[in-house]
Amino acid sequence: MSDASGQGTAQPLLPDGRWRQQFRRRLTAWFDNHARDLPWRRSRDPYAIWLSEIMLQQTQVATVKPYFERFLGALPTIEALARAEEQQVLRLWEGLGYYRRARQLHKAAQVIQAEHSGMFPRDREVVRRLPGIGRYTAGAILSIAFDAREPILEANTFRLFSRLLALRGSPKPTEDERVLWAMAEAVLPRREVGRFNQALMELGSTVCTPRSPQCSECPAATMCRTNAEGLQERIPMPKAKPAFVQRREVAVVVRRRGGVLLVRCAEGQRWAGLWDFPRFEVHSEGPAALSDEIRENVRRLTGLVVEPGRRLTTFKHGVTRYRITLDCFEARCVPGAGRGSSALETRWIPLDELDRYPLSTTGRKLAEWIGSR
Ligand code: ADE
Repeated sequence: MSDASGQGTAQPLLPDGRWRQQFRRRLTAWFDNHARDLPWRRSRDPYAIWLSEIMLQQTQVATVKPYFERFLGALPTIEALARAEEQQVLRLWEGLGYYRRARQLHKAAQVIQAEHSGMFPRDREVVRRLPGIGRYTAGAILSIAFDAREPILEANTFRLFSRLLALRGSPKPTEDERVLWAMAEAVLPRREVGRFNQALMELGSTVCTPRSPQCSECPAATMCRTNAEGLQERIPMPKAKPAFVQRREVAVVVRRRGGVLLVRCAEGQRWAGLWDFPRFEVHSEGPAALSDEIRENVRRLTGLVVEPGRRLTTFKHGVTRYRITLDCFEARCVPGAGRGSSALETRWIPLDELDRYPLSTTGRKLAEWIGSR
């Protein structure tokens, strides 16, 4: 690699034209033989590609596959998505996590339906103004669906380009991103840009993996500065993992005439828009103090006065850095106690209708636990 390409002296050099041409040739030849058969690769429909890219943010390919097919089967067009109830969209997303993605996808479909007659726009600036679509997602959709000459940079290509350039990571992450976006743009071919961008991601996710990359399988091994220097485990610098934090929570099952009380998770929360059993963090040690804490929290969240009963079951699960122990208790409404104001929207739901509501992961587990008794 030579050619400083206008970079300052402290910058890694972007590769020259010969390097780029050879890289494109080797990468596309490799992809011809190694591309996985993924459901979204059988389509050039911008809606299907958009859906796949949103689902693939922060989620593994193997997890996304069945969700993608089920979602597209239920809501096969932008128009169908725009007209769907949010509840249905969240139910189809249930279990994938990061539910904001689903709500923004839904909102963006409504914008496209209203402002572009349901046709996915081709203009980069218009696409980037849609809810939930940033620079990467816009580039991925426009290149894969329309072969627009748009660069992409996501987790896989970030790692791949960092290693090709032996970018050691500057104290300013935005500076690294600037260099890597410039690299993503510099390597683009003139034609079949979508296929090329997918080949980059494929190489990043299947060969140039975070730990123990398979350099012997890599078509660009001899062109890679990190491979030459043997720094694969140090580039890019592994992020320090935050320490786990233990947390105790309680979920409460309040029954009435064959139904259970659910609350709708508030805006701004992780599970916003989904439903759950009344649930909260607890701190008390003894059983009497815990009962008080349960009464107070159920009253605050739902306006109902309840008497806590026995513990039904306990789930352990992890959310980001939290390791949560969730104790699930029964409680009964105190007759004649009246009802105060509630922090959350509440609903009595017959057990056989729980399947229609989008629930948090542990909400679904508890619903299934109750249904199996
Ligand atoms: N990660 C994000 N987008 C992807 C794609 N289109 N193929 C494989 N992995 C991806």
